[in-house]
Amino acid sequence: MEDTSKLNTSKLGTKEYWDDFYALENSNFKENPGDTGECWFADNDAEEKMIEFLMDNLDQQNIHRDCSMIDLGTGNGHLLFQLHEEGFNGPMMGVDYSEKSVQFAREISESQFPGYENIKFEAADIFDPNWECSAYDVVLDKGTLDAIALSGIKLDGDRSVVDVYPKVVEKLLKKDSVFLITSCNFTQEELIRIVESDSLKVWKTIDYPVFEFGGVKGTTICSIAFVKR
Ligand SMILES: C[S@@+](CC[C@H](N)C(=O)[O-])C[C@H]1O[C@@H](n2cnc3c(N)ncnc32)[C@H](O)[C@@H]1O
Repeated sequence: MEDTSKLNTSKLGTKEYWDDFYALENSNFKENPGDTGECWFADNDAEEKMIEFLMDNLDQQNIHRDCSMIDLGTGNGHLLFQLHEEGFNGPMMGVDYSEKSVQFAREISESQFPGYENIKFEAADIFDPNWECSAYDVVLDKGTLDAIALSGIKLDGDRSVVDVYPKVVEKLLKKDSVFLITSCNFTQEELIRIVESDSLKVWKTIDYPVFEFGGVKGTTICSIAFVKR
């Protein structure tokens, strides 16, 4: 059977694509401050479901209202802003390798939450070995591994970024902390195969509507929470 976890490359896997994308979104925002840009997987209510998941699991593992969180490949920062709106008030960090994304997210933050200091944004490539990062209670990914997988980039000679990704996540997690990821490019089984390790174990999953086509059942999207043991 074909290994569908190895995806073809695409422009969505390049920094240039995201720089252009967020530069355009930022100029739209400047013209119309109500337009804070695209919310990835909005059709599937993924953002709402991820936030609901964290609320339903409050005070389990390290999930608390004031816990620290990092959003990998934060884009316009929408997930973090919504978490704040829903009452999460701990230190939050949005990281993205596109400086244009970070500039855009900071401008939204200044305009919508003036003076609020607990959501910060940083421009960094999560695979950069010199990136100085801390450890968090919750690590979030909405669509970022999907984009990364389309880059086809190899690290240290021959290791694909997808293979290295779980190590990056592990480094960012405190013990007993949760990594919550949503993907549309990988099935639940593929995502577990990619992420699970001796220290990262599947904890819970989020349910999405199931479709049936040609006798095969599936979902268009999946969200999985892993715990660092
Ligand atoms: C599909 S978008 C998702 C954006 C956001 N999470 C959302 O849900 O709207 C993927 C994001 O990952 C970022 N990204 C891709 N590779 C990255 C890397 N190596 N380090 C940091 N950010 C990266 C891109 O700039 C882009 O903002």
